[in-house]
Amino acid sequence: MITPASRILGTGSYLPPIVRTNLDLEKMVETSDAWIMERTGIRERRIAPEGIVTSDMATAAAKQALEAAELSPADLDLIIVGTVTPDMPMPATAVFVQQKLGARSCPAFDLSAACAGFIFGLSIADQFIRSGVMKNILVVGVELLSRVVNWEDRTTCVLFGDGAGAVILGPQGGATANGKLRGLLSTKIQSDGELACSLMIPGGGSVSPMSAEILEQKRHKVHMRGQDIFKVAVKNLYSATKEALDMTGMKADEVDWICPHQANLRIIDFAATRLGVPKEKVLVNIDRVGNTSSASIPILLDENLRSGKIRTGDTVAMCALGAGISWGGAIVRM
Ligand code: ACO
Repeated sequence: MITPASRILGTGSYLPPIVRTNLDLEKMVETSDAWIMERTGIRERRIAPEGIVTSDMATAAAKQALEAAELSPADLDLIIVGTVTPDMPMPATAVFVQQKLGARSCPAFDLSAACAGFIFGLSIADQFIRSGVMKNILVVGVELLSRVVNWEDRTTCVLFGDGAGAVILGPQGGATANGKLRGLLSTKIQSDGELACSLMIPGGGSVSPMSAEILEQKRHKVHMRGQDIFKVAVKNLYSATKEALDMTGMKADEVDWICPHQANLRIIDFAATRLGVPKEKVLVNIDRVGNTSSASIPILLDENLRSGKIRTGDTVAMCALGAGISWGGAIVRM
C-alpha cells in the first residue's frame, strides 16, 4: 500500500463578483451563446472588477483554506502561487499574498505552468513535506485572465474567466473508516516545449519588450492555436491520470471522482471516456466559471468538498494541461 507523505488539510476558493454571460459576449464579438455552449460547455464566467488584483483573489482563497485547515498564517512554511497573470513581473505574487495574509517570513514564489500550475505546485509541496524540510504549505492557483485576453478576439475571449483556489498541504495523518491512509498518493508532472508556440502571450518579455507596436498589435494578449491544444489536451489528460493512477497501483474504476482542469467540456468528456469513467464521476463547473487556468482544479475541489459531494475517504484523480505545454495528474484520498 502507498504511504502518503502529505495530506490536504483545508481548501478555499474565490470567484470575483462580475458575471459575464455568453449573451454579454454576443454584444462584444461575433459569436453566439449556441456556438460557445456547443463547442465549450461554457455559459458564463466571472470577471474581476477594476481594483481587484491577482494577489487579492489568491489571498481570499488562502484565508478560507487556512480556516478550513484550522491553521493561522503564522503556521505556513512555504507559499507557492501558480499563475501566469501575476500582479507584476517582479516581485512574485506569492510575496504579496504573504504580506496580505500577514504570514511570517518564509519562502514564497510563483510557478509558471499555466493551467497545470496547481498540479505542479502540489507536486513540489509534496516533495518538501516528504523530505521533512517543511510542514504546512499553501498552494494557490490563481488567474486574472480577463486582463490578458483580447476582448476583440472571439477565438479566445469566450473561453477564460477569473478566480482563485487554494489548498493547505500538511503532513500525512489520519485514516479513513476502513483503515486506508488519507493523503496525496501520487503526482506526475511533465512539460514538452514542442508545442510552446500554440498558446502564449508573445509580447512584453525579453523576446519582444513592450513597445507601442506590441501594444498596437495586441501581442501582450493571449494568442492560441486552439485545435493544437484540443488534440494534445485529450491525449495528455488521459495519460496524466493514467500515469498518476499507475503509480498508486489503482485502476480508473476505483476512483470516486475525476477532478479535471476545466478547459472545455468536450475535452473533459473525451478524456473521461478514454479512461472509462462514467460521467457521474466527473466533476464539472465550467458552465459557471469558464477556464480559470491554474485556479480551475482547486476551485472545483473546494466547491465539491464544501457541498459535501466529495467526502472523507473518497479518492480523487486530478489532471490538467496547459500552455508550455505542461501537464500533470495527482491522486488524493481526502
Ligand atoms: N464564436 C463563433 N465562431 C467562432 C468562435 C466564436 N467564439 N471562435 C471561433 N469561431 C469560428 C472560427 O472562426 C471558425 O470559423 P471558419 O470555419 O469560418 O474559419 C469556426 O468557428 C470553427 O473554428 P475552430 O477553431 O475549428 O473551432 P473548434 O471546434 O476547434 O473550437 C475551440 C474552438 C473551442 C477554441 C477549441 O479548439 C478548443 O477548445 N481548444 C482548446 C483550447 C483551450 O482550451 N485553450 C485554453 C487554454 S489551454 C487549456 O486550458 C487546456
